[in-house]
Amino acid sequence: KNSFCIAVLPGDGIGPEIMRQGYKILNILKKKYFLNIITKEYDIGGIAIDKYGCPLPQKTLLGCQQSDAILLGSVGGPKWQTLPDNQQPEKGGLLPLRKHFNLFANIRPSILYPELKQLSPLKTKIVDSGFDILCIRELTGGIYFGNSDRKTNLELKEFAFDTELYYAFEIERIAKFAFNIAQQRNKKIVSIDKANVLQSSKLWREIVESISIQYPDVQLSHLYIDNAIMQIIQNPVAFDVILCSNLFGDIISDECAALSGSIGMLASASLNINNFGLYEPAGGSAPDIQNKNIANPIAQILSIALLLRYSMKLNVLSNLIYSCVKTALQKGYRTFDIADCSKDYISTDHMGDIIAQLISKEA
Ligand code: NAD
Ligand code: IPM
Ligand code: MN
Repeated sequence: KNSFCIAVLPGDGIGPEIMRQGYKILNILKKKYFLNIITKEYDIGGIAIDKYGCPLPQKTLLGCQQSDAILLGSVGGPKWQTLPDNQQPEKGGLLPLRKHFNLFANIRPSILYPELKQLSPLKTKIVDSGFDILCIRELTGGIYFGNSDRKTNLELKEFAFDTELYYAFEIERIAKFAFNIAQQRNKKIVSIDKANVLQSSKLWREIVESISIQYPDVQLSHLYIDNAIMQIIQNPVAFDVILCSNLFGDIISDECAALSGSIGMLASASLNINNFGLYEPAGGSAPDIQNKNIANPIAQILSIALLLRYSMKLNVLSNLIYSCVKTALQKGYRTFDIADCSKDYISTDHMGDIIAQLISKEA
């Protein structure tokens, strides 16, 4: 088989707007680099609820199964927030999709180029040399998937609970994944937990420690989540690979994104043991700015760069996308989320065009 099939799931809110920019990039890659990519679109989340009454229709799941990779926009929005839990876009759509394909390893790279340090909300002296943090987040376990319940009598609101459960094998495989990636970078991992309080964190720390013995060349340290959040803000430059649980990774990755400019620039790859991947912006459907043509499409575009790297093994093209995004920013093109409040910003569409043009000129 010589074609590569991508299941495209635009989803809700700004999802379809930023996915349109993603298509521009895919089209350039097809035309200029003769990549034999076939895309097929499917519904997920709110739009699937509206059309079929279900956030993850069988047709979508089958389509993903028959593809080589999944490219997703974002799901969710106020319209579907009051549905029963498992019929919601997030809990009934995105999470089951991740679980179905066993996408336990979530990679979220936050990069601040030194030339673009003014994008960061931090003082320039703190981010003078830029930073490059890779957040590796466990994605199919922990408190997101543990036992949970709530007293259904809403009048009484007596109790509700969620359980953080981690099996040793889940911690082992994400730890090994992180160490392998760290070996290809600056060989430094900070593992984050709350081992001074939580049993699941104690197990996490013990297992990460035991796996580290197999990787003597990688320097491992541990931080409690509260301290970690503080250290990252005070000195992001000191971090290389961050390894964390599902919930902590959710929080930390948004923090790192903000430090590098905006959540609108944070891409993510979610992989299983066979390297099958789901690629999506880390941010959400941003209902506050939907249909205004102002959302930042960079996270979506960089998700394609990650797809090229991890699913298609086309590192050169992946790097090309990264460098064209960097060039666009260096030339001063800004969407509203990363613009200086006083200065002009360009639309979602325009940013997509600029980056697509830069890529096509490289050919
Ligand atoms: P959000 O990430 O959608 O928005 C948070 C803030 O960041 C908003 O001010 C938004 O305008 C801004 N923002 C996000 N992406 C942006 C972009 N590309 N360009 C410019 N600004 C951007 O988070 P939220 O408001 O907490 O959640 C909204 C909905 O999205 C919820 O239903 C939530 O569950 C869902 N969500 C989905 C995903 C996903 O599909 N992967 C991820 C996170 C949140
Ligand atoms: C993310 C999102 C999701 C998560 C939500 C929408 C379920 O916030 O991808 O970071 O918490 O994993
Ligand atoms: Mn999140």
